[in-house]
Amino acid sequence: MRVIILGSAAGGGVPQWNCGCEHCRDARARGASRTQSSVALSADGERWILLNASPDVGAQLAARRVLWPRNARGTPVRAVVLTDGEIDHTLGLALLREGPAPLPVYAPSGVAALLDEPWPLVRLLRAYAGVEPRLLPEGQAVALADLAGTPLGISCTAVAVAHHPPRYAPAARAGSFAVGLRLVDERGGRALAYIPTAGAVDDAVRRIAAGSDLLLFDGTFWSDGELRAAGVAAPTAREMGHLPVGGAGGSATLLPRLGAKRTVLVHINNTNPILRRGGPERAEVEAAGLTVGEDGMEFEL
Ligand code: MLT
Ligand code: MN
Ligand code: ZN
Repeated sequence: MRVIILGSAAGGGVPQWNCGCEHCRDARARGASRTQSSVALSADGERWILLNASPDVGAQLAARRVLWPRNARGTPVRAVVLTDGEIDHTLGLALLREGPAPLPVYAPSGVAALLDEPWPLVRLLRAYAGVEPRLLPEGQAVALADLAGTPLGISCTAVAVAHHPPRYAPAARAGSFAVGLRLVDERGGRALAYIPTAGAVDDAVRRIAAGSDLLLFDGTFWSDGELRAAGVAAPTAREMGHLPVGGAGGSATLLPRLGAKRTVLVHINNTNPILRRGGPERAEVEAAGLTVGEDGMEFEL
C-alpha cells in the first residue's frame, strides 16, 4: 500500500492568507508552503483514494505525477473518504466538479448529514458531475470500491473519535461528525491508521492505531492556548476538539504507547512551534519518536 501526505497543514495552511506570524512569514520568505490536510493512498499504485478533499486539492494533484490524468480526460482518483465535515477536509469536493461521472465519497452518517444540510455540498454538486455518497458504518470494515463497484484493494473501518462539531453546525449530534480510519491493504494486511482530528487519545484511538504500520495523527496545536497567545480571539485547542501535542497529557507522551510502527503528525496549524526546525518543541517531538509530517512524504507499507 502506498501512502502520500498531500497536505500536512491544518485549516488555512502555512502560510495562511491573513497570518503574519513568524511561521507564516518564514514560509513566505522561503517559498516553502504547507498545503491543507489530505492523504492519498493506493493498493496498486494505479488507482488512488483521497483521504479528505482539501481546498488545495488542485495543487496537490498537480504536484504528484502518480495523480496526473493518464489520457485526454480522466483521473487516477477513484474515491474520497472523509473523516469529518470541516471546510478544510471537504471544500476540495467542490473543486473536483468537472468530472464526467459522480465521485464516490465515503463518509460516516453524521458527516453525510452535515454535507446534506448545513453545508450542502452534495446538493450543490448535483448540478455538476456530482458525488455518490456512500456510508461508512461505525466500526465495520467496508471494502472501498470505484464508481462501478470494483474493489480498490483496501478495506476501511471508521471509528468515532472525540471531537467538536464544526463551527457552522454547533448543534450537531456528539460523536457522529469525526472519525478515525483504519485502512488495511487486503493483500498484504498492512494497516494505515488515519486520525487527523482527535480531542483525546482514548479507546477509539487505541483501537484504530494498535499494531498499525503507520499512524497519521492530529498535530494541530502544541498547547491549549496557542491561538490566543498568537493574538487570535479563538477557542482553545481542547475546545476545538484537538488534543495538544505538548505538555502533561499531550499526544507526544501518549502516542508512543499505542503500538504503531511509525507515527507522523499531520494537520499541523500554522501557529504550532513544532514547525520550527531546531526548536525545543520539535526536538521534544522527535525525542518521543514521532515525525513531523511534510507535504509529499511517501510511505510504502
Ligand atoms: C478544525 O480542524 O478544527 C477545523 O478545520 C478548524 C477550521 O478550519 O475552522
Ligand atoms: Mn481542520
Ligand atoms: Zn501564521
